Amino acid sequence: MDLSTQYMGLDLKNPIVASSSPLTWALESSLALQKAGAAAIIMPSLFEEQIEHEQAQLDRFIHQQSIGHSETNGFHPQLTDYMDYQNKYLNQLELLKRELSIPVIASLNGISEGGWVQNAQDLEQAGADALELNIYYVAANPEESSAQVEQRYLSVFEAVKQCVKIPVGVKLTHQFSAISSMVKQLEQAGAAGISLFNRFYQPDIDLETLHIEPKLELSSSSEALLRIRWIAILRHQLSLSLAITGGMHSSEDVLKGLLAGADITCMCSVLLEKGPEHIGRVLEQMSLWMMDKEYESVNQLKGSLSYINAVNPAAFERANYVEILNSYSPASGVQV
Ligand SMILES: Cc1cc2nc3c(=O)[nH]c(=O)nc-3n(C[C@H](O)[C@H](O)[C@H](O)COP(=O)(O)O)c2cc1C
Repeated sequence: MDLSTQYMGLDLKNPIVASSSPLTWALESSLALQKAGAAAIIMPSLFEEQIEHEQAQLDRFIHQQSIGHSETNGFHPQLTDYMDYQNKYLNQLELLKRELSIPVIASLNGISEGGWVQNAQDLEQAGADALELNIYYVAANPEESSAQVEQRYLSVFEAVKQCVKIPVGVKLTHQFSAISSMVKQLEQAGAAGISLFNRFYQPDIDLETLHIEPKLELSSSSEALLRIRWIAILRHQLSLSLAITGGMHSSEDVLKGLLAGADITCMCSVLLEKGPEHIGRVLEQMSLWMMDKEYESVNQLKGSLSYINAVNPAAFERANYVEILNSYSPASGVQV
């Protein structure tokens, strides 16, 4: 069974990639992911806010040094403390590159085109095989139109892209009025891949304290269908690589993602719940299904149920909407 696939110009031995999480940071867990069969890892992100915070601290530090109170200099933090965040990331990337044989994709996470994007260059120099740019933007300003929001995405992407030669992909949210157009514009701007979709973590209201609490809930397979639908619709509109992230838990999820047209499927929640070894089980079950259905390779499988190849492509759009609603039966005992 040939499970190999290609993503953003990288040749991968199979379509399962471990997406950004604490597991793809530490060497030990990254080695365990590789051992279990992960075809590549995407490191956790280097965040714009943290880079800028560090920069501000550094500026303050330099400023304080020049105020002339030499007796207080001994209390100043050492310059090296402020270089920690980015350097720690670069050192870890270099370590992972040295110790792993699978590709290592670095991740940048931010929403504006400031100086932080220059970090892309350092990530390339430290050996990243590719870059994933996660733009996690909550468009809450009523003065900002959807066209301006799209332009923000394009500007951030272009700023990062022009710093490097390695492939750059974008991890996107589904909260756009026109996903196809957004993705097409990113492709035209030079994106090598798109990863669908970012999960927004929803703040919760604590009814006891009446505080707004950040909440991180892991995903379930039910989140996969939104991604599968969009991968199927986009597959033949684009020639860039497509990744699914969100709700990829089982071999069934992975197979559906590939049939819809994904080049890779990224796993995070399920690996945090079940451990890296889960990848081995999924690969085995996938291969059994493929043998049973007489598929010889992942490349043969990819996109064979995408929008233009599906028997009933309209099912990926609005069609069947009314029938689905009308066909629903409430639980027994519930009167309608
Ligand atoms: C604990 C945790 C940390 C994460 N860290 C990052 C990150 O640093 N950068 C990023 O782009 N995504 C991050 N993600 C998102 C995941 O990479 C993934 O895209 C998302 O969880 C959807 O996949 P899943 O349904 O398999 O969990 C994180 C997710 C979790 C649960």
